[in-house]
Amino acid sequence: LENLSVVGLQWGDEGKGKIVDYLAEDYEAVVRFNGGSNAGHTVVVGGDKYVFHLLPSAALNSRKLMIAAGVAVDPQVLSEEVETIRRIGSNTVLVDRRATLVSPLEKMLDALLEDMRGGSALGTTKRGVGPAYAMRALRLAPRVSDLLSDDFDLSPLRNFYSILSDDLPDLGRWLDESRSVLGNLVGDVSQELEAINDAGGSVLFEGSQGALLDLLHGTYPFVTSSGTTSGYIPMSAGIPPGRVGRVLGVMKCYTTRVGSGPFPTELGEDKASEIREKGREFGATTGRPRRVGWLDLVSLSYAIRLNGVKELAVSKLDILTRIKEFRVCEAYSLDGEQTEDFSRCIGSLDRVSPIYSGGWNVEPEFRPGALSSSARKFVEFLEERLHTDITLVSYGEDRSMTYER
Ligand code: IMP
Ligand code: MG
Repeated sequence: LENLSVVGLQWGDEGKGKIVDYLAEDYEAVVRFNGGSNAGHTVVVGGDKYVFHLLPSAALNSRKLMIAAGVAVDPQVLSEEVETIRRIGSNTVLVDRRATLVSPLEKMLDALLEDMRGGSALGTTKRGVGPAYAMRALRLAPRVSDLLSDDFDLSPLRNFYSILSDDLPDLGRWLDESRSVLGNLVGDVSQELEAINDAGGSVLFEGSQGALLDLLHGTYPFVTSSGTTSGYIPMSAGIPPGRVGRVLGVMKCYTTRVGSGPFPTELGEDKASEIREKGREFGATTGRPRRVGWLDLVSLSYAIRLNGVKELAVSKLDILTRIKEFRVCEAYSLDGEQTEDFSRCIGSLDRVSPIYSGGWNVEPEFRPGALSSSARKFVEFLEERLHTDITLVSYGEDRSMTYER
């Protein structure tokens, strides 16, 4: 079995958590490769609901859970989630010793920076993830391994922060608690992955956020602070690019966005709130109501190209079946010209107007093993427009509510 990479194709919250949990069984290890506890991955099994922010969402379905070097690790969140899986599973957890730590100072800075931006705030999750990556780039951030060494000196980091505030939180307790959490979990993810592959096993890489939130290729500056596409995987995990394996893109059959920034297919509040309530579109990390819009094939085609997606999983089809006359954006109009090229519009997204086809109606009829004929028509329409096979269709939160095609 080849390695598998699962990535989000919109602004996050595509339903990756459920898909990863569904597929995890076949893989020896599941690896988180980007972001930090800004993510919120929801998994429902047998009526029980779990939200993971840091551990891979396969926590209920895989033996080895790994956090790669390119993740920003908040030891406090890690501690809570390790406790959860100790209660419900028998997984091993491995955190790469090169991963960046998030301390209370970065959370403070996240909030401070948002205040500074005033009216143009990004709407971050305030989990300190952006500042942690920034400290890493400044060579000030402690890595996981630094925490466990006796001679690591935190004073350059503290000196930096003292420029911003003379009322800094004391890191003594944070250090002690973090050491006790991480002490038994630290290792070399890069080497472990190589060993698994060399022995004939395969691994699954779990993305967080989505392509349109990618630091370089997304809707900057309204993006997250790490790579979110398949290109970030080899860098983060410390593996050669060829070991990324098959790339599976996850898309929801409408669009949501949480936080600020352009959103060409965004709906007015009446329609948005109808879909938000039916689809329970509230942030899994912050509880914020998500902005809602129609499916956007222009940005999806871009995300598919960026990631090298070879197959798609479509989520929340059950929600769409309850929306009468829903629409799909097939092109943008920019300065009076029609275009399907998202790249060309990336600097002018707040000026494009979506060109829709629609009203679709899909029968809310789900039997084991077969899509209703209207649902099948819709799925085939998407495959044709996106030039990509749809191999999984999810029509409910539970692991069992999934079609394989
Ligand atoms: P940050 O990643 O907390 O810095 O937030 C930057 C932007 O990314 C904000 O618009 C967040 O709402 C968004 N964001 C970060 N993580 C997620 C996620 O897991 N799902 C959806 N949006 C996210
Ligand atoms: Mg989420």
